[in-house]
Amino acid sequence: MAGLHGKKIILGISGGIAAYKCAELTRRLKEQGAQVRVVMTNGAKAFITPLTMQAVSGEPVSDDLLDPAAEAAMGHIELAKWADLILIAPASADVIARVAHGFANDLLSTLVLATDAPVALAPAMNQQMYKAPATQTNLDLLNTRGFLLWGPNAGDQACGDVGPGRMKEPHELLHEIQQHFQPSAQPLAGISVCITAGPTREALDPVRYITNHSSGKMGFALAKAAADLGAKVDLIAGPVQLPTPANVTRVNVQSACEMYKAALEQAQQSDIFIGCAAVADYRAADVQSQKIKKSSDTLSIELVKNPDIITEVAALTSKRPYTIGFAAETQDVAQYAKDKLKRKNLDLICANNVAIQGQGFNADENALTIYWQDGEEDLPLAAKSTLAQTLIAFIYQKYQQTT
Ligand code: C5P
Repeated sequence: MAGLHGKKIILGISGGIAAYKCAELTRRLKEQGAQVRVVMTNGAKAFITPLTMQAVSGEPVSDDLLDPAAEAAMGHIELAKWADLILIAPASADVIARVAHGFANDLLSTLVLATDAPVALAPAMNQQMYKAPATQTNLDLLNTRGFLLWGPNAGDQACGDVGPGRMKEPHELLHEIQQHFQPSAQPLAGISVCITAGPTREALDPVRYITNHSSGKMGFALAKAAADLGAKVDLIAGPVQLPTPANVTRVNVQSACEMYKAALEQAQQSDIFIGCAAVADYRAADVQSQKIKKSSDTLSIELVKNPDIITEVAALTSKRPYTIGFAAETQDVAQYAKDKLKRKNLDLICANNVAIQGQGFNADENALTIYWQDGEEDLPLAAKSTLAQTLIAFIYQKYQQTT
């Protein structure tokens, strides 16, 4: 994924409960090769300690405009010139107001005035404070002056309110930063990705079928995220009404057997295979040529097992792609997912708990835990489009380690 090697980033933390997420953000930026120098307002220190931020950034934390020792080490003007980007996260209503009006009454606001680097703000505050005309006017002003505004997200707030004002998650901010430095980056150019998506439909007779609740949204979001990064994407879609993302080649199928045939053919020409489809496990042993009549009180239909597509893909010997499966579970998620990882010989498995309302099947949001042979990573609840971007970046990073 778009690396940040050598990029110099000032992370300005202001006072807000979301400040605790800055440790995770710093860790992720460092993983991408960025140099991070943390500047904290007095308010920020009530939420996360300078010592924590020093430990994760590996650099001394700056918090005082008038500290002779800090000035001797790296003066505020020098620091302002050092940065390739200043990100203020969380950006409180107060810091937004001060930056909008050119205050220089602490180190962070002074740096913003003294830098010629782009400045991004990730607003985070109570929804009413965010909607307040003063805040909105300040944000409009910053927007017209070319400041980058990343977020906020909407949802549950620490204060109990619900609405806009949640700081973007660390992985979302990382993505914004990567996009900022390489807006037209196509890191997946030359990589081919095959994705199965949606449910399958197993006919019983000419008018009836067995299927499941899969919407296909996650698979389509993955296809879009991969294509946006320049990958050649082949999307094998079960019966869903979703539009085909730009630059994606779509093959429509109905049944598991049709999906199996299309997937096996395509997988052998792909670098990465993602089995996101909720494939029906069984199909009717005999599909009736005429509509089944309700002539008796009970009806037995013999079902036979469908081929396990991803197992067959992962078992390919010569042209085996890097293979990622999904596990939609309603209980014991970790255990079932790890079992599938092993049994199906997958490289990664993405597990979600579909029993939780509002995530997984048919929802617009999802949360996943990715498991591999010797590790795991949580991707917290996010819009499927955002989650897909993070997941594709993660998959690509892991795939690269194998080549
Ligand atoms: O065994 P289970 O259906 O829970 O496994 C889920 C994973 O296996 C998903 O990646 C799904 O796309 C894939 N699968 C498959 N063919 C099947 C059943 C599941 O490719 N017949």
